[in-house]
Amino acid sequence: MKKTVLTLQKRKQSKQKITMLTAYDYTTAKLMDDSGVDCLLVGDSLGMVMLGYDTTVSVTMDDMIHHSKAVARAAKSALVVTDLPFMSYHASVYDAVYNAGRLIKEGHAHVVKLEGGRAFSEHIKMITQASIPVIAHIGLMPQSVLALGGFKVQGKDYQNAKNIILDALAVEQAGAIAILLECVPAPLATLISELVSVPTIGIGAGVGCDGQVLVYQDMLAMYDGVSSKFTKAFAPVGEQMKTAFKAYCDDVINHQFPAPIHEFTIDEHIMQNLRQ
Ligand code: KIV
Ligand code: NA
Repeated sequence: MKKTVLTLQKRKQSKQKITMLTAYDYTTAKLMDDSGVDCLLVGDSLGMVMLGYDTTVSVTMDDMIHHSKAVARAAKSALVVTDLPFMSYHASVYDAVYNAGRLIKEGHAHVVKLEGGRAFSEHIKMITQASIPVIAHIGLMPQSVLALGGFKVQGKDYQNAKNIILDALAVEQAGAIAILLECVPAPLATLISELVSVPTIGIGAGVGCDGQVLVYQDMLAMYDGVSSKFTKAFAPVGEQMKTAFKAYCDDVINHQFPAPIHEFTIDEHIMQNLRQ
């Protein structure tokens, strides 16, 4: 059955967890959709895991649309959520609505996500007004890495924690359909999940959130960048891929591949004529 924004709301009410994984290409998205993952997030993390940048700040709207389209073609049941990249909504509310529209119309996303709390209430309100569902991403906001000076857990002291609560309440008020909480202490994320009526989806935010998200290269141990405390390797796929790549090279070098079963034949008479 096709999942919608209503599915997420119902899950919160019935206390059934929401599952989300990042996806950036057709093949992987199809495997996830077939596995019953509720939401496929075309995250701007694609700048790091797919394009090899150190941070997400260089990711463009065209990058996001390119990957979003591929994921959307695979999503028969899952809800496709696509990130608004850095500077696609910061300069004005107009930019926010215009670029959210592009992710829907050109990227075939069902929902857009942006990083920001109270400071982006108006943007969230106007995107919602345009009938585009928005998820607000608060806590650690990786697009702010230049201003933050690095990636670290947010909301450890009273004022910082209070600010994250105020951000959550503000984005709910502005119309966000869900709140993504990144890298905040688990008890704070649990409290926020109780305070808001929309679902929370956590990454590095503990078990008290209404749903969870992971970057798929992290959960399959494929990415060679720094891995965080909050990720879990569900299968050593990175190692398995390396084993397969090496086996392929060995077979080619040792004339084991291709074998006769992989070859096409031709009538020997034709070959004899060709050799003359
Ligand atoms: O871009 C991304 O993958 C994300 C998740 C880490 C939530 O925003
Ligand atoms: Na992101």
